[in-house]
Amino acid sequence: MNYRHAYHAGNHADVLKHTVLVRLIEHMKKKPKPFRLIDAHAGAGVYDLAGIEAGKTGESQGGIGKLEAPFDQETEALLQPYRAVLAALNPQGGLRYYPGSPDLALRLMRDDDRLTANELHPQDAIVLERHFLREPRADVTSMDAETCLKARLPPPERRGIILIDPPYEAANEAEKSVRMLAQGLQRFAQGIFVLWYPLKADATAETVLAGVAGLGADAVLKVELRVREAFAGGGLAGSGLAIVNTPWRLDAELRVMIPALAGRMGLGNWGQATVAWISPPK
Ligand SMILES: C[S@@+](CC[C@H](N)C(=O)[O-])C[C@H]1O[C@@H](n2cnc3c(N)ncnc32)[C@H](O)[C@@H]1O
Repeated sequence: MNYRHAYHAGNHADVLKHTVLVRLIEHMKKKPKPFRLIDAHAGAGVYDLAGIEAGKTGESQGGIGKLEAPFDQETEALLQPYRAVLAALNPQGGLRYYPGSPDLALRLMRDDDRLTANELHPQDAIVLERHFLREPRADVTSMDAETCLKARLPPPERRGIILIDPPYEAANEAEKSVRMLAQGLQRFAQGIFVLWYPLKADATAETVLAGVAGLGADAVLKVELRVREAFAGGGLAGSGLAIVNTPWRLDAELRVMIPALAGRMGLGNWGQATVAWISPPK
């Protein structure tokens, strides 16, 4: 396991994933019934953008670093909970600390909502465990993500969001992500599943999307944000999310928010947003 999220925290892919996650959590909060977020690849919790790892890549400058100036009113209203978490994490102003998905989520969740945060990397798992030491709403585990989903689904709350966010380091990771989604849906058909994938000059996105389409799941939305052209050896040109059991009207919100983010984070005229149904709601 070479991947460490500290090198990539706050980049354009994090901004896409986290702003969409925030909207999903806000949708879940419209009903009083508690829900659970299962973050199968949780990372370390919070990242220091002034730290050695983030400094080595400077990736956050092309992501969250480009969001300082306000957007139009409608986009700002959708981003408000995300901005509120960033402000709470940085009470001195500026943007030194950036939340990982489990920290961001828990700050927006209610007293009765629950988080399962799973991280396999032994060092990040220890940091994550410490981060949530005094947090009764969090259940921190350190197992393979596939095992975690098998063990934790269906959740006792019977309402939930499941985030599948692997690093796609291993050759078979696209197939494994789709397999986790398929197995997850068998255990918890009504769950809202969010599967992240990279847009690179390779077949990963195609493999993931073909696999997701083949599941025949309901209300499957594809959300992509591209910041530049993909070329061999050129790394991450953008990223995407396949959302299963998409909440009602989330697509309309994302059709406002994602183009605004792509316009800001895209290089030159390369910023491109896609919000499209893979399979529309029945
Ligand atoms: C993209 S990062 C997660 C970022 C995090 N979800 C966020 O948005 O802040 C992927 C994480 O998955 C972890 N990981 C890699 N393989 C894993 C596996 N088989 N099971 C669980 N976690 C794994 C990595 O150590 C890394 O921390």
